[in-house]
Amino acid sequence: MKFFVDTADIDQIRELAETGLLDGVTTNPSLIHKSGKNFLEVVRDIAAAVAGPVSAEVVATDHAEMMREAEILRKIAENVTIKVPLTIDGLKTCKALTSDGTMVNVTLCFTANQALLAAKAGATFISPFVGRHDDIGFDGMQIISDIRIIYDNYDYATQILVASIRHPVHVLESAKIGADVITAPPAVIHQLFKHPLTDRGLETFASDWAKTGQTIA
Ligand code: E4P
Repeated sequence: MKFFVDTADIDQIRELAETGLLDGVTTNPSLIHKSGKNFLEVVRDIAAAVAGPVSAEVVATDHAEMMREAEILRKIAENVTIKVPLTIDGLKTCKALTSDGTMVNVTLCFTANQALLAAKAGATFISPFVGRHDDIGFDGMQIISDIRIIYDNYDYATQILVASIRHPVHVLESAKIGADVITAPPAVIHQLFKHPLTDRGLETFASDWAKTGQTIA
């Protein structure tokens, strides 16, 4: 399973990229706003720091304007993936861009039927938002299971990119279902490394090792 980080914070992206475990980055207009930086400059910096796909979202709502914005964004770097909303105009744009060899991430997906449409439009990635679904009292992960079944039934190549991840259990469930990618905030990715017993075990080993008076040389 690929790991993307969901942020526009270049320092946090660079830190995670150093682990060698980061496969890509997703951004959205809210994350760009949070960064306080210029959109095109942030995308340029991120695309240079990470080899994998970097999602940059169009903000237009009509097809012609989405195409114009996508044209600007895709020229930034080869690994820029154009993010479009799951609307009729968004899927029209998806079809046009992917037919032309551009990677497209279809975002704001909340049903398996929407994911089916995105696959038919040739999406490279579909982003179902599990956390926002959970927030309103539904089971976000159920949609991921349904999309996995549908895509496997028809051999769709569209990758399931589980988005709006809130905690490590979402990551675990995504892996068990066989999602292709997860995108999570930096804090959730850091949580994946941690366990109190790992920390306690390390402390014990360090103190027992000190008592041996030895060094590895
Ligand atoms: C995905 O690409 C989105 O940017 C993101 O996962 C949305 O997450 P949120 O629901 O925490 O805003």
